[in-house]
Amino acid sequence: MIKVMSVFGTRPEAVKMCPLIKHFEKISEIDSVVCLTGQHKEMLWQVIDIFGISVQYNLDIMQERQTLTTITVSILEKLEKVLAVEKPDIVLVHGDTSTSFAAALAAFYQQIPVGHVEAGLRTYDRYSPFPEEMNRCLTGRIATLHFAPTVDNKRNLLLEGIRENVHVTGNTVIDAFSTTIKEDYEYKSDDLRDIDFEGKRCILMTAHRRENLGENLTNICRAVKRIVSEFEDVLVVYPVHRNPAVSETAKRILGSVDRVYLTEPLDVEDMHNLMARSYMVMTDSGGLQEEAPACGLPVLVLRTETERPEAARAGTVKVVGVSEKGIYENARLLLTDANIYKRMAQAVNPYGDGRASERIADIILQYGRNAI
Ligand code: UD1
Ligand code: UDP
Repeated sequence: MIKVMSVFGTRPEAVKMCPLIKHFEKISEIDSVVCLTGQHKEMLWQVIDIFGISVQYNLDIMQERQTLTTITVSILEKLEKVLAVEKPDIVLVHGDTSTSFAAALAAFYQQIPVGHVEAGLRTYDRYSPFPEEMNRCLTGRIATLHFAPTVDNKRNLLLEGIRENVHVTGNTVIDAFSTTIKEDYEYKSDDLRDIDFEGKRCILMTAHRRENLGENLTNICRAVKRIVSEFEDVLVVYPVHRNPAVSETAKRILGSVDRVYLTEPLDVEDMHNLMARSYMVMTDSGGLQEEAPACGLPVLVLRTETERPEAARAGTVKVVGVSEKGIYENARLLLTDANIYKRMAQAVNPYGDGRASERIADIILQYGRNAI
């Protein structure tokens, strides 16, 4: 028996860890313990409720307008006690949030090995995305087991001298689709039910990154306003992140624009099914850059870089920057040039076959047999 404690706390970590935990729950040799940091609250539970996994601990650290320091310090202090009681054989963290880094550090302080799910993504710009690039580098340095979604990600780790226990597994986000996407799906959100999608091309957009708050988000919203005013058959659905620094700007610029629908954050079933039915995606999110190409949608990335070059190379993802003009012009191209749209809208999925959870669980079991 190996005791695996999974620690996560934000929406994207939950989307990608829940399929893995669901898989652990089926394996008798794994004693699965889940500890939420609660870095997110409503947005986290929206995911957990859909996957229906068991949760043993919630550190419940979220505060309005929390800072990187308060997140990190609260997790270090509160997780210490849980780790001391549970004494897991391995702690699993995911990706690049402050939860991931702080939880890995807390485990390291008690000499508990760490497994890093979604390891090896890099932009090689320490301030972009901020603080995620540094969070994932530091987490990779601490981790003993590295679950890299793609061979590119594995190569990044090898180049940094991280050579042992690096496994290419695919990304568990593809595993999540088998729970969420359904052909005859009906939306739960009243916001979505009230939209008349008939005869319209839907652009699904999200924007929340810390480095985009302020001027960049203002530019992004202005570009969206311009696009809908020019194309009458286009509507934009923007599920707005709960961060007040995001929602204030979004509401100020787009709050009363025709055919722009600012909704509450959608639960992940509504989100994935809306994506599957949309025309294109505009986003600064990491997860959407993986999900949308797998659904056959072009993605305009509202950033200056990406740590996910696989889909960009395949041509479905394009990094368009954060100027109003650049975003508007790239969106306009996709709305007017059928050939360009067709080229970008091919279904490309460099992120695996939906069996990443199985592979990760097998590697952990093998590790447990050898190391414990
Ligand atoms: C965090 C991650 C980011 C990830 C994003 C996913 C860090 C530093 N950042 O950024 O990598 O892309 O999550 O969404 O780890 N809030 C609520 N309810 C919620 C969630 C958030 O009210 O359920 C509000 C709170 O006021 C909170 C603020 O949003 O203070 C910001 O949350 P925080 O986790 O600090 O930053 P994110 O931008 O969500
Ligand atoms: N998502 C969701 N509801 C929303 C917006 C996003 O369920 O209203 C999902 C999205 O499909 C993806 C994940 O949340 O699975 C991405 O989270 P986010 O964009 O917050 O973080 P990032 O991936 O940028 O770290």
